[in-house]
Amino acid sequence: AHQWQGVLREYRDRLDVTDATPIVTLGEGGTPLIEAPALSQRTGARVFVKYEGMNPTGSFKDRGMTMAISKAVEAGAKAVICASTGNTSASAAAYAAHAGIKAVVLIPEGKIALGKLSQAIIHDADIVQLKGNFDDCLDIARALAAEYPVHLVNSVNNDRIEGQKTAAFEIVEVLGDAPDFHFIPVGNAGNYTAYTRGFVEEFERGAATRLPRMFGFQAAGAAPIVLGHPVKEPDTIATAIRIGNPASWELALAARERTDGYFGAIEDETILAAQKILAAEVGVFVEPASAAGVAGLLERAAAGEIPAGSVVTVTVTGHGLKDPQWALRRADGSEVTPTVVEVDAAAVAGAIGLEKAP
Ligand code: F0G
Repeated sequence: AHQWQGVLREYRDRLDVTDATPIVTLGEGGTPLIEAPALSQRTGARVFVKYEGMNPTGSFKDRGMTMAISKAVEAGAKAVICASTGNTSASAAAYAAHAGIKAVVLIPEGKIALGKLSQAIIHDADIVQLKGNFDDCLDIARALAAEYPVHLVNSVNNDRIEGQKTAAFEIVEVLGDAPDFHFIPVGNAGNYTAYTRGFVEEFERGAATRLPRMFGFQAAGAAPIVLGHPVKEPDTIATAIRIGNPASWELALAARERTDGYFGAIEDETILAAQKILAAEVGVFVEPASAAGVAGLLERAAAGEIPAGSVVTVTVTGHGLKDPQWALRRADGSEVTPTVVEVDAAAVAGAIGLEKAP
């Protein structure tokens, strides 16, 4: 029976992988592109969701990490280091464990979701919380990698971007062409850069007849690219994208230019509303940051910026189980607790307003 081989083997001819590269894989990539009629109906476009939460550690980071860790091992590295808002550290920890090398992860104190922290712990990473934000963590990770024998696996490492571009290949393969628009959440802007590179490569080799317009969305409290200046104290419930000084800022601006793209900012409540719509109407549960692209699509469509019938793809970057606390909360802030009743069928029917069949 066929089993998906992971992005390095599936796209070997389009990545810097040779016979000398030890392939460290957990079977990442090959994620579903799910048609979303509920979002099509809301926007007038034809909308597909690229569900990156289906990767082995629950986020798109695995596509870049298989490449970064494989190349690190090829180069003889015995340890890798990353700064992270959670998903990169979860992925680095898992792939380093598989490769039998050490992972060192630097995280902002108290600001990473429990699911992600538990992943780094169970995969046996060396974890240090810094009394600062993600941007501080990245500065320190870079400084350590420059002076100590630890290989940097943040997306400033081009191997990460290379691995992540494969998601665009998969979209073009499934649709038979590039979409008209691609929507995506933005933190460090590495993934925005990676998708653009992937779509450009597909266009240049003739597999796609067009480039999608790349639409990226930051959280309003952490929107440096939209504001045009770094944000000193980034703040958002979407902790994955709580970043004030994106590492791939320049690359992202070039990508926007190349694709006639767009960057927007979304308020936290709007992100949570989009997360809810995606879960309740499409059946896809994502962490809050991952809903920023969906929120951006709904906003741009409401603004009349998406022509009817456009083919739209939206990357949802991480699984909802990473950070489930937001699912337990209503829009007004109150907590959702399922009703408790006696063990009695009529009591259950009464509790949910179920009428007897005639
Ligand atoms: N969505 C999720 C779920 C993420 O974890 C991240 C980034 C992004 C979107 C943004 O991607 O940084 O390439 O623009 N998370 C990083 C981390 C920062 O450390 O896990 P980006």
